[in-house]
Amino acid sequence: MEKIRWGILSTAKIGLKQVIPAMQNGEFSKVTAIASRSLEKANVAASSLGIEKAYGSYEELLDDPDVDAIYIPLPNNMHLEWTIKAMRAGKHVLCEKPVGLTVGEVEQMIAVRDQCGVKAGEAFMVKSSPQWIETRERVRRGEVGELQLIQGMFSYFNADPNNIRNIADLGGGGIWDIGCYPVTLSRYLFEQEPVRLVSTLEFDPEMKTDRLASVIMEFPSGQAIFSVSTQLVAYQRMHIFGTKGHLEVQIPFNAPNDRPCTVAQDRGSILLDEITTHAYTVTDQYTIQGDAFSKAIMEDAEVPVTLEDALDNTRVLTAIFESAKTGNWVVI
Ligand SMILES: NC(=O)c1ccc[n+]([C@@H]2O[C@H](COP(=O)([O-])OP(=O)(O)OC[C@H]3O[C@@H](n4cnc5c(N)ncnc54)[C@H](OP(=O)(O)O)[C@@H]3O)[C@@H](O)[C@H]2O)c1
Repeated sequence: MEKIRWGILSTAKIGLKQVIPAMQNGEFSKVTAIASRSLEKANVAASSLGIEKAYGSYEELLDDPDVDAIYIPLPNNMHLEWTIKAMRAGKHVLCEKPVGLTVGEVEQMIAVRDQCGVKAGEAFMVKSSPQWIETRERVRRGEVGELQLIQGMFSYFNADPNNIRNIADLGGGGIWDIGCYPVTLSRYLFEQEPVRLVSTLEFDPEMKTDRLASVIMEFPSGQAIFSVSTQLVAYQRMHIFGTKGHLEVQIPFNAPNDRPCTVAQDRGSILLDEITTHAYTVTDQYTIQGDAFSKAIMEDAEVPVTLEDALDNTRVLTAIFESAKTGNWVVI
């Protein structure tokens, strides 16, 4: 097989603007079909992106025998249903984050994946990004000394009541949309699971979605603390502190594909001219993610972010809601 043939479920913005064009540039991925609830929308998307086939329902795409794998950028509450339907149709599945909204949902996905003998994974593209792969290598090499503290921040301003992020029934809210990133990256860097956490959430009074959140996670060998907000000035940063050094990932989540990403590194000096800046060659983390997933299918290897990893992330995310509700530390 030369390239994996991908089908896309929906005309979601993330697909049309980022993931599909990026996958079309891939060495091992080809986007052959797109489906929408509206055939008209599917046709417009297919013709503007040069995709061969357009379908007016998600089911029709799953029935296409010339599609090997499905990318699912549906609202969060639909991930379970369509991931399972796609796997039962014999397709490999790359589902957007967060793949599930409960631990039980992800467990169901794992069971169906194993029954169907397909590959399935979560689209945490950050873990395919060279800046994160190398940052973890720096931590592993001891460049910050002993890793002790990770501090993260991710925010944007979006108060549109029609946006899926602001609709509670669709799995909206800041923790599911962006809190999932500092959680997965803290687990990625510590290479451990948090033992317990405490959180505080503030909810939009009308939309009932969490719009401001702060979380402290205790890992066996350190702590991670982060804040996220859906109604604050747009900002993102991750700081990694060890006993001897500090790394600052400057565009940690929405890494641009038209200019280098930068990671600042210091070894205990607060003087700006003693900070080293690492600049990464321009890449597209969605192209790398798509190709890594396609290669995993071709070589029968592990996908970039497994459902088992998604399960561990979901345990943490659901514990954040539990802690905010009870006001107590939650053991994970
Ligand atoms: N990895 C990343 O960088 C990244 C970035 C942004 C978002 N995401 C994830 O990608 C997913 C989609 O996000 P998005 O912002 O791109 O979404 P979006 O633009 O709102 O698109 C969601 C699509 O789902 C379909 N849909 C089916 N039932 C729907 C319903 N009841 N309400 C609304 N839409 C419905 C629609 O497509 P049709 O009308 O064509 O059927 C719609 O275009 C989410 O899971 C999000 O967390 C990931």
